Amino acid sequence: MTIHQCKIVELPKISSSQGNLTFIEANNHIPFDIQRVYYLYDVPGGAVRGGHAHKKLHQLIVAMSGSFDIVLDDGAEKKRFHLNRSYNGLYICPMIWRELDNFSSGSVCMVLASSFYEEGDYHRDYQAFLRAVSSS
Ligand code: TYD
Repeated sequence: MTIHQCKIVELPKISSSQGNLTFIEANNHIPFDIQRVYYLYDVPGGAVRGGHAHKKLHQLIVAMSGSFDIVLDDGAEKKRFHLNRSYNGLYICPMIWRELDNFSSGSVCMVLASSFYEEGDYHRDYQAFLRAVSSS
């Protein structure tokens, strides 16, 4: 898996004078079934979240409100994404190290995930992650 498989997904946006509506369909707008949704909020200025990779999990990250950055790293290359639109999501495939920073005040980071929470799916040690990608 490389960061080139991770992409900003432009989600449908239905606009009217009464506001905007965006929807996300599993296996249509994103290449996985959604089994879990979680969100980060009340993130203090200067905080850094993430700092791990997932072995099998697929995710889509959406800035529901405000903005933040996500740095992706596949062990060979790094790329920084800025998320600030509720109709854009960043798709992250398995085996990508990620860090989230630069959270604006009041931002909400929603994550759609392909499986339930499972600690065994995490690489939380960067050196172990690098060993795993180099041996695959
Ligand atoms: P973690 O994934 O490390 O958060 P982040 O990447 O945003 O910094 O999770 C933080 C804590 O929350 C950790 O103890 C595991 C727990 N957690 C759950 O219990 N369920 C979940 O769905 C998630 C995402 C985390």
